[in-house]
Amino acid sequence: MHIHIQLLPFPPAPNLVSDRIVAVIDILRATSVMVQAISQGASEIIPVETVEKAFQLAKTFPPNTTLLGGERESRKIEGFDLGNSPREYQGEKVRGKRLILTTTNGTKAFHAVSSGQKVLVGSFLNITAVAERCFELNQDLFIYLSGDEGNFSLEDTVCGGMLIDRIIKKGGKSILLTDASRSAHILFQKFEADIVESFHLSQHGKNLVDRGFEEDLPYCAQVDMTNLVPVFKEGVIK
Ligand code: MLT
Repeated sequence: MHIHIQLLPFPPAPNLVSDRIVAVIDILRATSVMVQAISQGASEIIPVETVEKAFQLAKTFPPNTTLLGGERESRKIEGFDLGNSPREYQGEKVRGKRLILTTTNGTKAFHAVSSGQKVLVGSFLNITAVAERCFELNQDLFIYLSGDEGNFSLEDTVCGGMLIDRIIKKGGKSILLTDASRSAHILFQKFEADIVESFHLSQHGKNLVDRGFEEDLPYCAQVDMTNLVPVFKEGVIK
C-alpha cells in the first residue's frame, strides 16, 4: 500500500483520489464532531459549504428530524441548534437525528475529495479503526487534511501521522510512504506522548482557547473512543 498525505488544503486533481481510499481529517473540530455525532446515534450527517444551504436543506426534511450544527469563527451560528464542539453532541439530543453541518474548513474538505473510491472520516477518536479499515481495503491511501483557512495545520498533520503510524505497525515494509507522509509520521512521533501540546502550539488551537473552547482540546485528543468509521458517500456521511 502506498500512502500519500496532502499537507495543504487545496482541492486535489480528481485522478489523484479516484483510485484511492481517502481519509479526511479536521481534528479541531469538524471530523471530531462527525465521529462523535455518529457514535452517539446520529442517523446521518450532511456536510454543506454555506449557512444558506444548511437552512434551505433543513426545510426539505420533516420537523423534528434534523439538527443544524456548525460554526463560523468557531462559534455557533445564529438560528442553529448546535455549535461545533464535540462535547455538545451527546445522547438524546442527537440520537436518531439527521445533522446538517457547516464549518469553516472541514465540511468543504469532503466535497473536495468526493471522487475518492471510499471517503472515510478520520479523527483521534476513531484512529485505530480507520487504520484497520484502510489496511483491510488494501488500496492506496490519500490522506486529506482540511487545514486552517488554506494554511498548513499542525494538529491535522499530527493526526495524519498517527494514522500512518498505525498502518505501518500493521503492514511493516509493505507500506510505502511519500516524503510528505514520512514527514507527517515524524511530526506525530514528536508529539506522541502529548497530543494536546501540539494543539496548544497550533494556530487553530490557540484561537479555540481564546474563544473559550479550551475544553475541546483534550476532548478531541482522546484516542480510540469508538471503533466506528463513518463514510462519506453521495453527499452524506453515515
Ligand atoms: C472547521 O471545520 O473549520 C473547524 O472545525 C472550525 C472550528 O471548529 O473552529
